[in-house]
Amino acid sequence: MSIHKKIISGRDSSKRIEEKRTIIDTNSGLSRMGWIRVCETDSLSNGDLMGFDHKNKRILIARIEDKIYATDGICTHEYADLSTGFLNEEEKTVTCPLHLSVFKLDDGAPQNPPAEMPLKTYNTKVEGNGIYALIE
Ligand code: FES
Repeated sequence: MSIHKKIISGRDSSKRIEEKRTIIDTNSGLSRMGWIRVCETDSLSNGDLMGFDHKNKRILIARIEDKIYATDGICTHEYADLSTGFLNEEEKTVTCPLHLSVFKLDDGAPQNPPAEMPLKTYNTKVEGNGIYALIE
């Protein structure tokens, strides 16, 4: 009988934890477990670059052939906002507007100097009518 009570108690407490998580997720509105809602899918067309700010961090979002890329939004060489740079849809790269270093969007690797450090990249997903990036 006491074992049975323990099992029920265990189930109850895990259920409470799940309910609490659900409440936290619902209340957070735009973010769920690190996924940040960037924008609506309609507001980012193929060939678009967009920058957005999240917790003092600038993030670059790009859309090419319906694939969404997310990287750090500031060049690793000096301070330049890559969302004001140039997207190359064939090469899947972004070019810094200041000194013209080119970065691959899939892994952030610089392709030419002066930038030497890669951009950090983030996973993305489309859910419902929203575009999300997994920002740690
Ligand atoms: S600031 Fe981007 S290449 Fe210099």
